[in-house]
Amino acid sequence: MKFNYKNSGISEHELAKEGKKLASVISEMKTIAERNDYSDCFASINLPFDSEISQDIKDLAEQYKNINYILVIGIGGSNLGTVAVYEAVLGKLYNLKGNFPEILFADAADPDYISDIKNIIRKCLEREENVLINCVSKSGTTTETAANFEIFLDIIKKYKKNYNDYVVVTTDEGSKLWSLAKKNKFKILKIPQKVGGRFSVFSAVGLFPLIIAGIDTVQLLKGAMCMRNKCLDPDIYKNPAAISAIITYLQYKRNKNIIVNFFFSSDLESTGKWLGQLTAESIGKEKNLKGEVVNAGMTPAVATAVDLHSMSQLYLAGPPDKFTNFMRLENNENDIKIPAGKFAGKTLSEITNAIIHGVQEAYIKRKIPFNEIVLENKSEKCLGEFLQFKMMETIFLGHLLEINPFDQPNVEEYKVGTRRILEGE
Ligand code: PA5
Repeated sequence: MKFNYKNSGISEHELAKEGKKLASVISEMKTIAERNDYSDCFASINLPFDSEISQDIKDLAEQYKNINYILVIGIGGSNLGTVAVYEAVLGKLYNLKGNFPEILFADAADPDYISDIKNIIRKCLEREENVLINCVSKSGTTTETAANFEIFLDIIKKYKKNYNDYVVVTTDEGSKLWSLAKKNKFKILKIPQKVGGRFSVFSAVGLFPLIIAGIDTVQLLKGAMCMRNKCLDPDIYKNPAAISAIITYLQYKRNKNIIVNFFFSSDLESTGKWLGQLTAESIGKEKNLKGEVVNAGMTPAVATAVDLHSMSQLYLAGPPDKFTNFMRLENNENDIKIPAGKFAGKTLSEITNAIIHGVQEAYIKRKIPFNEIVLENKSEKCLGEFLQFKMMETIFLGHLLEINPFDQPNVEEYKVGTRRILEGE
């Protein structure tokens, strides 16, 4: 991964000055990395190095060789990372290519969408094929997940006598879902207690469904390990997460409170959704660590090349309240030569590169600040690097803003409200 910040609008002097503020958190995180445990809220940085978790997941995955569909039931931090890696590595259209196993994602309590999944699963079970249900919920109490889980349990029970062999639950030890799983003899994978949903992609939450779908999780974790170590470097100039956090922080102080994450790859759009949750939930806080009302937060927007034909007018000429991160690929797995017409002989990569340069030229001309991140390709290793980079950047950003990036008190607010309305809790 290459990180280019020469057009960020932030000077070396400013970077050096703010960089000093990160020294304490980097040193604290280094201690936690050395301890290599999960006793602290920074725990997620140790996940890629946890060979025990990886081995348990691998062993369990071995038991599911003849699976046609993996149905991941979970929402937010419990599925966005999995969707991101699945689509990035295998392609957004993977489920139309007829390769198995495929992952289907049941997230919102959306009657039409869930009916469609229900029909796919039912037909698969009628053909006597196998479906693995992986219900993922850290708290074990999320309404949408609980409702969808019951719907799919009901189906699988009708078709498989030994249905509990085809259910794996991923949750916190001791949660309501954990007890339900124990009672029904479902297999259970544990999420380390201090690892929050949006930081959990390298735990069983992401690794288990991804390994079954054929993703090389060893390479994914290798990329994450390599980036984790880089992002613990106290020399901020060698630490891309630190530099990126400082730039975002300083631009936010200049009222750039919208972050546009612009991906020049359709397969990375869901990585943008994952990133959106990471930024919005971690940084959007009413109060700072001192308890003062600050209403901190930046609004993340995801864009792909398609948005050049819809959003770019606003991005180029609208209010100067945005900071952009351009993400592009160095290499595509495929390329296509244009057979005829004005661009005959040119490839789609050449066209995309011309577009990227054209867009960046326009930004520079208008003095609109941006960073550029270049991923070598969409391999597991590159994805692992990118996701880890963004998680550590978010932790540093939280530190600079003096807020807690690990809680989500107001998401809880709506969850409690929903349960009260439905259950009279
Ligand atoms: O990041 C978060 O904490 C949330 O987005 C949760 O992941 C989401 O609400 C789902 O929660 P749970 O995993 O407890 O079902």
